[in-house]
Amino acid sequence: MSKLVIAIDGPSGAGKGTIARAVAAELGYRHIDSGAMYRAIAWKSLREGLALDDEAAVVRVARQSPVEIEGGVVAIGGVDVTREIRTPDIDRAAASVARLPAVRDVLVARQREMGEGGAIVMEGRDIGTVVFPRADVKIYLDASTEERARRRANDPAHSGGPTIVAEVVSALTARDELDRTRPTSPLYAAEDATPVDTTGKSVNEVVEEVLTIVNRRLESVLPAPSP
Ligand code: C5P
Repeated sequence: MSKLVIAIDGPSGAGKGTIARAVAAELGYRHIDSGAMYRAIAWKSLREGLALDDEAAVVRVARQSPVEIEGGVVAIGGVDVTREIRTPDIDRAAASVARLPAVRDVLVARQREMGEGGAIVMEGRDIGTVVFPRADVKIYLDASTEERARRRANDPAHSGGPTIVAEVVSALTARDELDRTRPTSPLYAAEDATPVDTTGKSVNEVVEEVLTIVNRRLESVLPAPSP
């Protein structure tokens, strides 16, 4: 079985985490949530009292404190931060540190190492454009702003935030704007990505849609059966 590199990008709340995890489980691939790496760096930087625009200080954290992601557990410098990084403060802080080019350089290099052997589903904002521009499969997931906000408001893993959908819409729109307009690696769909709109669809429907795209790709890389 070919060991593909599958890139899933898209804005917050598009369903990347749920879909990437399910697709990876179905294929027996590793799932990497690259956003969790930016979140962990933001968490540690805040904990050390750093200014989030102090590039030299934040990049030191990124270099000295490797982020480990294994089986849904996220740790930085050996500390499990799986729960702590899912808060509105860390949403904002992660988007701030993600604007720093030197921090991105460190994390992108790690993400490429993780993808070296293939058999990986990596989700984020720049996976198909910057991290793996030659990924075997590129998916761009999106959904309406209202649906994305509703999902975020109902996400039990995301604690301490506003649960009124209108408030979540404004926080989400602000973060999208930061991600789409930053000079380094802004969020956009790679030209060769397949767009998948998840609005109004069940998780199963979207997983099936993505697996169909993956299977088509697998058929094209497998040798034709001998006559
Ligand atoms: O995906 P998630 O919402 O956890 O990502 C948190 C933040 O990390 C995003 O708002 C974005 O600024 C940043 N990020 C990024 N590039 C990635 C993944 C996440 O810039 N590949």
